[in-house]
Amino acid sequence: MKTILVTGSAGFIGSNLVLRLFKELSEGTIVGLDNLNDYYDPTLKDYRLSVIEKAKPTGIEYEFVKGDLADKALIDGLFEKYHFDVVVNLAAQAGVRYSITNPDAYIQSNMIGFYNILEACRHNPVEHLVYASSSSVYGGNKKVPFSTDDRVDNPVSLYAATKKSNELFAHCYSKLYDIPTTGLRFFTVYGPAGRPDMAYFGFTNKLLKGETIQIFNYGNCRRDFTYVDDIVEGVYRVMQGAPERKKGEDGLPIPPYAVYNIGGGQPENLLDFVNILQEELVRAGVLPADFDFEAHKKLVPMQPGDVPTTYADATALERDFGFTPKITLREGLRKFAEWYKEFYGHK
Ligand SMILES: NC(=O)c1ccc[n+]([C@@H]2O[C@H](COP(=O)([O-])OP(=O)(O)OC[C@H]3O[C@@H](n4cnc5c(N)ncnc54)[C@H](O)[C@@H]3O)[C@@H](O)[C@H]2O)c1
Repeated sequence: MKTILVTGSAGFIGSNLVLRLFKELSEGTIVGLDNLNDYYDPTLKDYRLSVIEKAKPTGIEYEFVKGDLADKALIDGLFEKYHFDVVVNLAAQAGVRYSITNPDAYIQSNMIGFYNILEACRHNPVEHLVYASSSSVYGGNKKVPFSTDDRVDNPVSLYAATKKSNELFAHCYSKLYDIPTTGLRFFTVYGPAGRPDMAYFGFTNKLLKGETIQIFNYGNCRRDFTYVDDIVEGVYRVMQGAPERKKGEDGLPIPPYAVYNIGGGQPENLLDFVNILQEELVRAGVLPADFDFEAHKKLVPMQPGDVPTTYADATALERDFGFTPKITLREGLRKFAEWYKEFYGHK
């Protein structure tokens, strides 16, 4: 019987992970933690929590704790109470642009918060700590696909710097205290009840309001988009495969530490992405069939700091966990559009 902590459980990825754990486990305890902050519309977080409450199967103990990662006493208390076997740290202040105007939130949640998790794992040993990193750690890397063997010493946002720091902190705790840790670098995750600060969601909101969307580099950007179920599949598999605790020739522990990319590995052209999104929005009835997309689309030059192509080399995940994301953009955006229609009820 496992006891699992999922932080950021009211978030996009965290809520989907809890739902997946409900399906997979027949017994055990799941504790979800989230501070329900208002970085984006908290109604979405309440909605996700209500879906979780309704889906809770018998046989599983589930508790939601409203609290902050940066609250050390709270985190220590939770670890002492539950003695978690597996911890999945998904709570973080996300978003690249927001980090320019709100750096404090990143230091509180991503640095102090993650440090509190590591310290709690040190004093209350866990089988495995899995935590979210991000493709943003690759910064301005020009070599594609992005591999975990590439150097990632040049972050171009504070958000990226905090995620890279998490990997460094984790390495240190794996080495010093023999804590098995795995960091997962997610590549642009999308899906139903996703994050409104991300492009596909923002584009949809703007088109509905009759506003114009801006497509950078004239649409000639290629990105790895990863459907949330694929991310959750990856996290679920990785949770069960902690890096082994081994000793080196010197008799000292080799850090049980790993980092993987999770991304589709099939970059999509931004213009194709927008075309599929608009087709699916019409299909789901979010926008009328005669919506004049051309009048609401503006192709603009590249923004400073933008990278034309980013995508994951996810061969290590395939090698070690037998998994590569599979859901196509068409399928994924269809699910998003259908959810959007149902949730916001547009005619
Ligand atoms: N969605 C993506 O495309 C993407 C890409 C790369 C990395 N990530 C990372 O994956 C993780 C999950 O992302 P998401 O898209 O689900 O984001 P999200 O914002 O929907 O979820 C994060 C949740 O954490 C909570 N939270 C934030 N700070 C907290 C704190 N100090 N204490 C407690 N709760 C706190 C928020 O309220 C939110 O519900 C994050 O670590 C994010 O940085 C996401």
